[in-house]
Amino acid sequence: MRSRAALRAASRGLRSQLDVRGKVAVITGANSGIGFQAARQLAAAGATVVLACRHPGRMAEAARAIRSKHPDAIIDEVAIDLGSLRSVRAAASAIANRHPHVNILINNAGMIGEPGWRTLDGFETCFGVNHLGHFALTGLLLDRLLAAPEARIVTVSSTAHRVAHLNPQDWPNPRVNDIYRAYAASKLANLLFAYHLHRQITAAGVVMRSIACHPGWVATQLLSSKPRSARRRAGVAALRAIGAIVGQEPEDGARPLLLAAAADVPSGTYLGPTRWWRTRGPVGLEQSSADSQNASAARLLWDLSGELSGVEFAQLAAPAVAGHAVQQAEVRNLGELWAASNYWTTEPVSLILPDGAELTVRSATADDTAAVEQLHQRCSSRSRQQRYLGGSTPAPGRLRRLLDPPRGLTLLATAARAEPGQPVAMANLVAEGDEGEVGLLVRDDWQRRGVGTELLRRLLQYAEDAGYRALVIHTEAQNTPMLRTVARLNRSITIGRDGSIVRMILPLTDGTPRGR
Ligand SMILES: NC(=O)c1ccc[n+]([C@@H]2O[C@H](COP(=O)([O-])OP(=O)(O)OC[C@H]3O[C@@H](n4cnc5c(N)ncnc54)[C@H](OP(=O)(O)O)[C@@H]3O)[C@@H](O)[C@H]2O)c1
Repeated sequence: MRSRAALRAASRGLRSQLDVRGKVAVITGANSGIGFQAARQLAAAGATVVLACRHPGRMAEAARAIRSKHPDAIIDEVAIDLGSLRSVRAAASAIANRHPHVNILINNAGMIGEPGWRTLDGFETCFGVNHLGHFALTGLLLDRLLAAPEARIVTVSSTAHRVAHLNPQDWPNPRVNDIYRAYAASKLANLLFAYHLHRQITAAGVVMRSIACHPGWVATQLLSSKPRSARRRAGVAALRAIGAIVGQEPEDGARPLLLAAAADVPSGTYLGPTRWWRTRGPVGLEQSSADSQNASAARLLWDLSGELSGVEFAQLAAPAVAGHAVQQAEVRNLGELWAASNYWTTEPVSLILPDGAELTVRSATADDTAAVEQLHQRCSSRSRQQRYLGGSTPAPGRLRRLLDPPRGLTLLATAARAEPGQPVAMANLVAEGDEGEVGLLVRDDWQRRGVGTELLRRLLQYAEDAGYRALVIHTEAQNTPMLRTVARLNRSITIGRDGSIVRMILPLTDGTPRGR
């Protein structure tokens, strides 16, 4: 716990960075915890703050608490129950009537319910409140956001998103009896939404930012529910006790939200505390799970959320992308669509590295031969030797086969900004029987930035989906970065050594294709 003096000093420091005077900031769940602290600090820094809360009494209490500390605070109050789409519509039109523009929308409210709980519209509560309500609110306020010079939409997720498995068949009602899994799934949905919104903004060419963040571990009311079962009550009590010891103050938990709302942070990024397993400490750029960056899944969720809520983001509608006709089909069975969308071969996915750099990952074709030759030329001879185990760079004919293998997959990571379209890394999986042999080449200036790990993770997923029994990786014994990259996959590995060459085998499935 930090002393009051330390908190006051930190908050003064942050406030001086918040250039929000005269801006309109809407924040959901602003009566409690992290949302309250974010609202208070934005008001203290001169923003007009719209508290958007479920209980009018608690909201009025929060407004009073802010005014008592900051008598000049400009505060508006709008009642909203994110579990009722009707209430969301009423709140959005109240905000739009009172404010010609909205500069900052912070989608903060969140809850963990009980198994079987449903929103007023009949959706599982975490999905309905944490994701769908915010999706609808954002879409309904889009005109007002577009009326501001460079609006920001901040979506509050959680490190809990990492334990969620991407399972579009489970939207909107996860078939889990574990409410924490439902919560984690809703926090994954928050990220899929924030990233897809970023992609829509970019495609539409509008000036606006979608930024995601998480607060770390903060002692708040989030775990205040009193579950029916004694076992779950004990679990909640234990989590609360741990939270009271290791959790940050809500004031610190609000920092990522405030930086996302006002600091110089690019759209499409994810911010959060960087220390103690991301529970606390200085705020920095974060990397979210591979699932959260799955652009196909994000598009499905976007379309489904539009259908369920009846809210369209027409102002951001971009021309349909070739190769995605399947997405425009009437969607009734998400599972079928998921299986039908050729995830591995058609879908470029954007990837944000921990240092904030943006890449696109896509499958290669023989047409990439010239660009990949250039990639080889721009790698040091040491990197090329490590990739080809001392052998020479493949001639164009072999390179073409490597890029478009009869069985297997080659992924390219291409730079998004500085050198658009230029490959900076290549990962090959060439099938031999029911095993896949993997090779990795990363341009020297992109090494140690997480690119190799991401490419390898995707190849691993591809191999599992396709039903390979194992992945095999040969590398030089002194190629420590490659050994570390493989270790980061956290899989069981059998290691053998033949002189200076190490052979790593990652056992996978029983050989049955899992499909997608
Ligand atoms: N605390 C953490 O360690 C932690 C970690 C990761 C992420 N987060 C995220 O941080 C955000 C804020 O949570 P917190 O920790 O500050 O929890 P909190 O103190 O419980 O605040 C949650 C807020 O959301 C509001 N809310 C809940 N259901 C709502 C609904 N149906 N409609 C409108 N508002 C609703 C609550 O209103 P009422 O007061 O009326 O219930 C409350 O104002 C959440 O998105 C949470 O997932 C928190």
